[in-house]
Amino acid sequence: MENSLDSLYRAALWGLQVGTVTGAAGLLAQLLGLPLPDYVTPPSACFAGLALGATVLFLMDSLQISTKDRAVVVTGCDSGFGHEMVFRLERMGLVVFAGCLFANGEGAQKLKDSGRKNIHVMQLNVTSDDEVKDAVEYVRRHLPPNGLWGILNNAGWSTFGHVEWVPIDICKRIMDINVWGTIRVTQGFLPLLRQSKGRVVNVASGLGRQCAANRSTYGITKYGVEALSDCLRFEMRKWGVEVVIIEPGNFVNATGIFTPDSIRRDAEALWKRIPSDVQKDYTKEYFDAVIENMIYYSTKGTTDKSSVLDAMTLALLHRYPHPRYQPMEVYFKVRTWVNTHLPEWVYEKLYT
Ligand SMILES: NC(=O)c1ccc[n+]([C@@H]2O[C@H](COP(=O)([O-])OP(=O)(O)OC[C@H]3O[C@@H](n4cnc5c(N)ncnc54)[C@H](OP(=O)(O)O)[C@@H]3O)[C@@H](O)[C@H]2O)c1
Repeated sequence: MENSLDSLYRAALWGLQVGTVTGAAGLLAQLLGLPLPDYVTPPSACFAGLALGATVLFLMDSLQISTKDRAVVVTGCDSGFGHEMVFRLERMGLVVFAGCLFANGEGAQKLKDSGRKNIHVMQLNVTSDDEVKDAVEYVRRHLPPNGLWGILNNAGWSTFGHVEWVPIDICKRIMDINVWGTIRVTQGFLPLLRQSKGRVVNVASGLGRQCAANRSTYGITKYGVEALSDCLRFEMRKWGVEVVIIEPGNFVNATGIFTPDSIRRDAEALWKRIPSDVQKDYTKEYFDAVIENMIYYSTKGTTDKSSVLDAMTLALLHRYPHPRYQPMEVYFKVRTWVNTHLPEWVYEKLYT
């Protein structure tokens, strides 16, 4: 399994941090006139630190926990990443509890038809208190000897539209699924995870680390998932429970989260709900151009889900997980880096 761009970036970053420290130590030793062998100079110390940091990280990343007699819960398994993760994790030896929005729907049926005895399909709408409670009880009754190792909060919904266009009920619905749903499921399973010193993996998005016009409704939920996950990581430290975030880039073309048809259908419904004075100001031509751009975005990305599936797997199984995994194409990664590391005007100038 590989997650190459992300792991190379992490190794380079670790190398740079250790290299900076050893290089500075070399410089200090030189300034203090300490007796050192000729080959120890600030550049050679820096280079050795860089290689050491990167190597240690690669070695740590090669260690994974055993899947034997352990279980995981995945939400949103009707389609997309969640659906494929069920098969992948079961093949790796885990008992998988697959939460589906429609336990009698097509996606759930495919999971059932696979005949894999370690796949349990559960009805789980993450916006329902009762369904989450029932799922927790079901999992509790069917756990393997080593208990519940992790939950993958993958269920999600996406929408689009300028802030002035999107009705409040849609804003509330997306929060209910993406943020409150993640909290509801996490609260339900945390007692079991604290027992096993297990793991919470939350699926945010590259749009939880940078903003794009027309995506506020989705972006606020994914920024919410980021904040929730970071706070929870701090709180869970004393229980030995790790909390990890996945930040996929653009994989719209690889999953069913948007299709040109669904965008056109949603756009038609959205336009009808925009107040007439706002419609008049923006004009239908402008609205249509924004929607065409959205359709273009939904079809131009990769159709290969594997880097996201790799990141989710590593986030669950790495012995020493990283707080964030970023399966992203280079363009998205650079854009995220600019937003998170450089002054705000640079991002605004380049990308808005
Ligand atoms: N694809 C991307 O480019 C991308 C990028 C960044 C982040 N993500 C995130 O990745 C996750 C998976 O998305 P995906 O791309 O695989 O899209 P997807 O195929 O639409 O998967 C989302 C799944 O969540 C389910 N779901 C929706 N509402 C739910 C609810 N109330 N309770 C339980 N399940 C619910 C959906 O069921 P139905 O199929 O029945 O609607 C679907 O199976 C999401 O959190 C998404 O935000 C995706």
